[in-house]
Amino acid sequence: MMPGPPDWTFGNMNDEKPAKAGQQGATQGVGTAMPHGNLTACRLTSLPAPLLAEMEFLGRESLGRSAPNRWMLPVIASWGLFYVAKVDSEVIGSAQIIRCLERGDLYMDAFYIRPFYRRAGYGKAFLVELTKQLGKLGFKRLLATMDPGKRAAVRLYAGAGFDVIDNLPDYYGQGRHRFLIAASLVVI
Ligand SMILES: CC(C)(COP(=O)(O)OP(=O)(O)OC[C@H]1O[C@@H](n2cnc3c(N)ncnc32)[C@H](O)[C@@H]1OP(=O)(O)O)[C@@H](O)C(=O)NCCC(=O)NCCS
Repeated sequence: MMPGPPDWTFGNMNDEKPAKAGQQGATQGVGTAMPHGNLTACRLTSLPAPLLAEMEFLGRESLGRSAPNRWMLPVIASWGLFYVAKVDSEVIGSAQIIRCLERGDLYMDAFYIRPFYRRAGYGKAFLVELTKQLGKLGFKRLLATMDPGKRAAVRLYAGAGFDVIDNLPDYYGQGRHRFLIAASLVVI
């Protein structure tokens, strides 16, 4: 059975980690105060060998065996939209985006923030910045799939303006259901 729609409010979560020191009062977004330094989102169009190795490592660190490997990462960088989130010169997260042929929407995969930087607003700030940058490129909608059982992802996407638009039963194999989610892109 496909689980029902997620409870976006999650009023009774008792497995939350405490907020990181310095989180109080921090605002989210580029150019605003963030606990470990401001976030910038940059598009990579090629991956020189050391960066390819780093991105493969960081992907595995956050996504395990579902991370895109060294054969897929350059393909996305060259032919899709490969973004990294940076604090100063350090890569702290990534998102990989392809264009949906049928509708002209974008589809995002492999979104992550490195473990050390989590629970500090960087995931949301990165997503919000991505929706602005992709909107500027003229795209109207960003799609993604979400594991309804993953509370961090559910809250992240809900807070960044995504809505559930479809159920995808057994999307990643039997019992591995996903929700299809979408956010309107900000046209500036
Ligand atoms: C999901 C992920 C990107 C969140 O990044 P993050 O930088 O920690 O997110 P933020 O600090 O911006 O938090 C965003 C929201 O999620 C909530 N959240 C983050 N981690 C959480 C957790 N472990 N449990 C419950 N809520 C969590 C925050 O409280 C915040 O909610 P709020 O806006 O209601 O206060 C990060 O945990 C990650 O990379 N996980 C592994 C990869 C993954 O699951 N990617 C998503 C693929 S679908």
